[in-house]
Amino acid sequence: MFKGVLFDLDGVITDTAEYHYLAWKELAASIGITIDREFNEQLKGVSRLDSLKRILAYGGKENAYSEEQIANLAAQKNEQYVKMIAKVTPADVYPGILSLLQELKQAGIKVGLASASINAPALIERMELSAYFDTIARADQVPSKPDPAIFELAAKNLGLEPEQCIGIEDAPAGIQAIKACHALPIGVGKASDLGQDIAVVENTAKLTLAYLEEQWRKYRA
Ligand code: G6P
Ligand code: MG
Repeated sequence: MFKGVLFDLDGVITDTAEYHYLAWKELAASIGITIDREFNEQLKGVSRLDSLKRILAYGGKENAYSEEQIANLAAQKNEQYVKMIAKVTPADVYPGILSLLQELKQAGIKVGLASASINAPALIERMELSAYFDTIARADQVPSKPDPAIFELAAKNLGLEPEQCIGIEDAPAGIQAIKACHALPIGVGKASDLGQDIAVVENTAKLTLAYLEEQWRKYRA
C-alpha cells in the first residue's frame, strides 16, 4: 500500500486556482492581452514567472519587456493575488479534504504539500491545516511543474520514494510531473483535461482513504 500522499494546493485543497486565474486575467488585460479559461489550463501548476512568460508569448509580446519589467509585472500580479487570498479561512477548504487528512493521519500515512506556489505555506496556515502536513516542499528551490522536482522533493522530505506515494493534482502540468517521478496520479477535474489513463474525481468530496486505496490496488496491483 502507499506510504505517502503528496497534495497540490491550488484547485485541490481550496479554490485559489480561481484567484490565480482572476489575478492573471487582470494583469494580462492591463498590457492588452486577453486570456480565457481554456488558455488558463496551461497556467495551472506553473510557477509565477513561467506563467507570465506563457501569457506574454500567447499575446505575441514575448520580446516586448525587459527582465526587470517582467519581474515587476509578476510582482503586480502577486500583489493582487495576495489581496484576494487575505480572505481565505478554514471554511474555504474544499469538501472532503479535512476528513481525508484526518484519515491519513490516523492511518500513519505521511502527507506532503507539493505546490509551486510561494504563497502555499501562508495559505495552509490560514486554513488551519499545518498540523496535517509532515512537509511543505519549498517551491523556490526547484524547477516548475511539469518538472517532477517538487514531488520528488516532497517525497524525499518524507523519507519516501515517489513510487511509494499518491499525488493529487488538478493541473495537466501537475499530472505530468507526478507521472514523471512514478508516483500514482489522481486528478481532480475532468478526464478530458487530465487524461483518460488515470483516476480522476470530479470533485474532492470523492477523495476518501478508501477511494485512494482502491485506486492503488487498481493501478499498482
Ligand atoms: C500554483 C498555481 C499556479 C501559480 C503557481 C505559483 O502552481 O497552480 O497558478 O502560478 O502556484 O504561485 P505563486 O503564489 O508563487 O505565484
Ligand atoms: Mg493546482
